[in-house]
Amino acid sequence: MSSDSSLLIRHARILMPTGDILLGDVLTRGQEIVQIAPDISASADREIDATGLTLLPGVIDPQVHFREPGLEHKEDLFTASCACAKGGVTSFLEMPNTRPLTTTQAALDDKLKRAADKCLVNYGFFIGATPANLPDLREAQPTCGIKIFMGSMRGGLLVDSEEALDPIFAEGSRLIAVHAEDQQRIRERREKFAGINDPAIHSQIQDNQAALNATQLALKLSKKYQRRLHILHLSTGEEAELLRRDKPSWVTAEVTPQHLLLNTSAYEKIGTLAQMNPPLRSPQDNATLWQALLDGVIDFIATDHAPHTLEEKAQTYPNSPSGMPGVETSLALMLTQAIQGRCTLAQVSNWMSTAVAKAYRIPNKGAIAPGYDADLVLVDLENYHPVRREELLTKCGWSPFESWNLTGWSVMTIVGGQVAYERGKLHTEVRGQALRFDG
Ligand code: DOR
Repeated sequence: MSSDSSLLIRHARILMPTGDILLGDVLTRGQEIVQIAPDISASADREIDATGLTLLPGVIDPQVHFREPGLEHKEDLFTASCACAKGGVTSFLEMPNTRPLTTTQAALDDKLKRAADKCLVNYGFFIGATPANLPDLREAQPTCGIKIFMGSMRGGLLVDSEEALDPIFAEGSRLIAVHAEDQQRIRERREKFAGINDPAIHSQIQDNQAALNATQLALKLSKKYQRRLHILHLSTGEEAELLRRDKPSWVTAEVTPQHLLLNTSAYEKIGTLAQMNPPLRSPQDNATLWQALLDGVIDFIATDHAPHTLEEKAQTYPNSPSGMPGVETSLALMLTQAIQGRCTLAQVSNWMSTAVAKAYRIPNKGAIAPGYDADLVLVDLENYHPVRREELLTKCGWSPFESWNLTGWSVMTIVGGQVAYERGKLHTEVRGQALRFDG
């Protein structure tokens, strides 16, 4: 497809930036949306009949682990971006716990080059904090922000003391995203519960208090320096209530579909496939997190897509690794919730696209409007289809949501005006672009 080719999407239910639905047409040229109207008379290189389908801004997933370089037996940037395209995810922000760790400009450049070569969707990367890389954290470009593992990590990326965290918050102004779990408490509880092989113990070892302690510390440091802070995968009711009482205007928080929709009862059904960090919590936590999301205390949704092979997951706890895939199922999971009346379509789209673009200051994304990038997903809200292991594109080949019957699956995913996925077929020649981050 040439760089200025055009698409005309006809008769779609278009989710407008106001939250209203317009029944009409969208014209894109090159990478941009150029016109939205009830009936566009122009012709285009390709016309798409979207009768009965709903057009949303493409999903921006702000927390994924795509394993390249170094851990490609679990996933790589090509397979992960194929899974994104199938799931309606047109942009992702990827985490630094690859091999080597993404803690230098050279490692960031390497990832950007790999992504340019093989990603079907748009990409951005975090730079990882270590106790000793302040100059890299200040200067590396382009990056969506600094990732700090306050807990749940071994080796170079663990920054678990206030003394080591303080200078990172003090220096510079770019966004800091924290994995907030208290490593000291986790260590103590690992000893206390040593020898227990039931994976359900994971939620007790890395308990609500461990998450709350670290979130409190991150908030304290963010307030001390008025530093932009994003709290990754909020998992407990206690943290949500803390933020409800005390959330500075420069702080944002996210929640994963699994922390909204799964809880500790999942261990009985899927064992270590339910094991992640921070762990799944109680039904009461699910409910409190949902309410916080609905009330705007939690700003948006991320999957924390963290694939491990089935062989790795088959090891006995605690040797089984933590993490689960998510980019292929997140949009359908959340749209199914909307259709079932738990929230609106406009809220889902805000949480999965608009609010993410705003927090990470990604220009021209997150809305269907003239001049915005043509990153779009056309979904079918009329039919249901179950999550089936054999249909998944993630290299790890499993999902914690297998057999869930969902609606809102992507029928077509468009990245920068190019059709990357349509009706079960990938266009693997499509390439996304490096995301820009203002300020
Ligand atoms: O469960 C998790 N797994 N949580 C994380 O934050 C990291 C991830 C991984 O990379 O496997």
